[in-house]
Amino acid sequence: MSRYFIGIDVSTTASKALVIDRDGTVVASQSNPHDLSTPRPLWSEQDPENWWEATSKSLRTVMQQVNPDDIAAIGLTGQMHGLTPLDASGKPIRPAILWNDQRSGQQVAEMTEKVGYKRMVQIMGSRLLPGFTAPKMVWMRQNEPENYKQIAHVLIPKDYIRYRLSGAFIADVTEASGFGTMDLGKRTYSDELLAAWDLPRSWFPELCESPDVCTTVSAEAAAETGLRAGTPIVGGAGDQPAAAVGMGVVHEGMLSLAIGTSGVAHAPTYSYTPEPDGRLHLFCGAVPGSWLYLGVMLSAAGSLRWLHDELCTGMSYDEINQRASSVPPGSLGLVFAPYLTGERNPHPDPYARGAFVGLTLRHGLSHFIRSTMEGIAFGMRDQVELLRDLGVSPAEAVVTGGATNSPVWLQLTTDIMGVPLYTINTNEGSAFGAAILAAVGAGAYPDVPTACKAMVRKVDTVHPTAAFADYERLYPIFRSLYPSLKETFARQFAFES
Ligand code: XUL
Repeated sequence: MSRYFIGIDVSTTASKALVIDRDGTVVASQSNPHDLSTPRPLWSEQDPENWWEATSKSLRTVMQQVNPDDIAAIGLTGQMHGLTPLDASGKPIRPAILWNDQRSGQQVAEMTEKVGYKRMVQIMGSRLLPGFTAPKMVWMRQNEPENYKQIAHVLIPKDYIRYRLSGAFIADVTEASGFGTMDLGKRTYSDELLAAWDLPRSWFPELCESPDVCTTVSAEAAAETGLRAGTPIVGGAGDQPAAAVGMGVVHEGMLSLAIGTSGVAHAPTYSYTPEPDGRLHLFCGAVPGSWLYLGVMLSAAGSLRWLHDELCTGMSYDEINQRASSVPPGSLGLVFAPYLTGERNPHPDPYARGAFVGLTLRHGLSHFIRSTMEGIAFGMRDQVELLRDLGVSPAEAVVTGGATNSPVWLQLTTDIMGVPLYTINTNEGSAFGAAILAAVGAGAYPDVPTACKAMVRKVDTVHPTAAFADYERLYPIFRSLYPSLKETFARQFAFES
């Protein structure tokens, strides 16, 4: 039997190919970067050809290290929601409009009004956001009618790569949850939403469940990548549902905190119960029959990277950590609102901005550093509070990403959450989850939870300290920032544009 499984992650920043074995040990890994273009305020676009160049290059590199016959199956994951419109010959019509593009605010308002907010949340499990795919299609109809007329297929970044690998137009149900056109409880497209928004069903890809084999590598793609023609490809999952699998978060009551550029809290459920006010996303989960609550903050580790690049030029992350440790919990009352790229949950507001509030002469750069870490952790706490309102009350949570590389950031995040946080044997996140799905599709494990049990292992647990009490006093102050500043943010946007 073939021994290895590939996870391909078409993220915003790069395309990665990860090869793992049956125990979850990484055999080979390669990543190549993408360009991002922001031609106008609120716009965020990429060239689909660039994804294919990066993915095929990453695949060629890893395939030099393994025998193509040893690859049992491939799983795909990647940035969700990105509108990739193709013409009848399968060629991209315009650059893809990404998940973090905010141009379609007006379309979201019109579309929500047409269906009615409550009805829409009941059908699609979430409120509609400008990042989702459908509003961007309506934006194209209203603003680029010539382009819109050419549309024959609509895909998402990772499913465009599936198309380039196989020639098939397919999405898994977790990915399709981010289109904004699903009847989520039934795990299929909603005729009601498609009709209300006048979007043809035929443009959307066929659907499958995440661990199911849905197509195979074509001879042409095999020649370009070094893969064997006929290698099975499973449905895979959007980056967040795949990350939940990659962190082993597949049972009700589990919680994960993934602190990447954006910060996401994941909590699985086995009954379809949308948050009534649509303050959290609910997507289909990668385990068939499951759904996944997602709380998303847009600038998590991205905020710290900004601080490093702009205000701490040339400083190592070690020094950043030392400086954060030199400041007491609460940064002498300096509080950071981490909304550098707008926000999603719990404040769906493209105009939200970052802010440091409470500056005095006592504050210096070290306070900015610690308060940035604290503001990110408070933003994650906001996601967890939304989940707690739904009855999710985890005794512990798994944490991955930026904070796990910094003991001080990890400790203060634990103190702000008030529950133990544990790390796991992998930081490969979504690509690892996609490879696990491939392992299940290939029959190496009977189901996703069994595969996770074998491949994802707890490493260290961090417990809250006495600082928890300080942060409990500071958290209400953090929560008051957005409501106090909302109007100011909108006026600042108007000033700038
Ligand atoms: C999920 C989401 C992000 C993107 C990019 O709703 O928008 O996770 O997939 O990472």
